[in-house]
Amino acid sequence: MQYKTYQITESYSVAGLNLVKKDQPKLGPNEVLIKMKAWSLNYRDLLVIKGIDAWKPPVGRIPVSDGVGVIVETGSEVTSLVVDDRVAGLFFPNWIDGKMTDAKLTNPLGGKVRDGLLQEYVVLNENELIKVPAFLTDVEAATLPCAALTAWHGLMEKGQIQPGNIVLIQGTGGVSLFSVQFALMAGAEVILLSGSDEKLQMVGQMGVNHLINYKRFPNWEDRIMDITNGLGVDHVVEVVGGDHINKSIDAVALDGTISIIGLINGFKGNINTAKIMSRQVKLQGINVGSKEMFNRMNKALEIYNIRPVIDKVFAFEEAKEALTLLESASHFGKLCISV
Ligand SMILES: NC(=O)c1ccc[n+]([C@@H]2O[C@H](COP(=O)([O-])OP(=O)(O)OC[C@H]3O[C@@H](n4cnc5c(N)ncnc54)[C@H](OP(=O)(O)O)[C@@H]3O)[C@@H](O)[C@H]2O)c1
Repeated sequence: MQYKTYQITESYSVAGLNLVKKDQPKLGPNEVLIKMKAWSLNYRDLLVIKGIDAWKPPVGRIPVSDGVGVIVETGSEVTSLVVDDRVAGLFFPNWIDGKMTDAKLTNPLGGKVRDGLLQEYVVLNENELIKVPAFLTDVEAATLPCAALTAWHGLMEKGQIQPGNIVLIQGTGGVSLFSVQFALMAGAEVILLSGSDEKLQMVGQMGVNHLINYKRFPNWEDRIMDITNGLGVDHVVEVVGGDHINKSIDAVALDGTISIIGLINGFKGNINTAKIMSRQVKLQGINVGSKEMFNRMNKALEIYNIRPVIDKVFAFEEAKEALTLLESASHFGKLCISV
């Protein structure tokens, strides 16, 4: 059988992505064949497709880490999954549980060394998959492996935020809106930054307590000090990165935590280390998460009936349009693709 798949070309651009036909590979004993139903896009997919820095893959790589499908065939020794199970791929297929190790981070899906899921059918090892919550649609479930798990890991697993904590969240993209949902779930007070008043209004409807437009108030850290009576916030979800982290250092409370997640502003920064020291700021790098964390997150999604925020859904043949919209950063929440 032949099926369609997207591939990165030497142009390393969204426009240059090729839609080609491939022969279905033979299943190994521990592998399953998945008919893909939906995908979601992440900022990181653009870094890979454009071949930026350490994300540059070889020509021919299949992009996109996040997707959900239904198992249509199982290998002879598969024991944990059956035909018709609805599953998502793990962003880090080797990070099942426990602490991160180098070996667990070697082959993220849709990255430098491993093909991703933007194909009609996918073959994966049974251990590289997770069943998704039944109450979510395919498109909703497709948003979980990268953006949701990263937000969950930062705030709930490592961050251990508590009711009454004040959490600062930057932006209204995928990671940011999951962070909003988890922070509110945990009983935290949320301050959100966005460059758009329209998006701030939408976030207000989600129950966010304080809204700041970072374009109109570039010194937003001062406003945060006003809101928190000069104390600062307990936790910052830093999606911007680079020098921008200094603003977060100025906005965080004594002994507060900054989850360093994003690099929209660049990969390096000139950082105020003296202030980190004197205010005992904890900087925690977050790199998606493990299957064990994913399972705990799925339970919370079910118990609290949390549904991902989806901006727009495109057809499989419209993947380039979806990625172009992602590049424009005009979206609110997640951009998805569905068969
Ligand atoms: N470490 C990890 O494991 C991990 C996992 C996932 C993502 N990431 C990284 O996290 C970042 C966000 O990823 P994503 O997929 O959520 O991206 P996304 O959906 O494209 O969202 C990016 C958002 O960032 C906001 N933004 C841009 N400049 C800002 C600024 N100066 N201040 C505040 N917000 C700003 C924008 O929000 P407004 O339009 O509202 O202004 C934009 O919508 C990316 O750098 C990505 O590579 C890291």
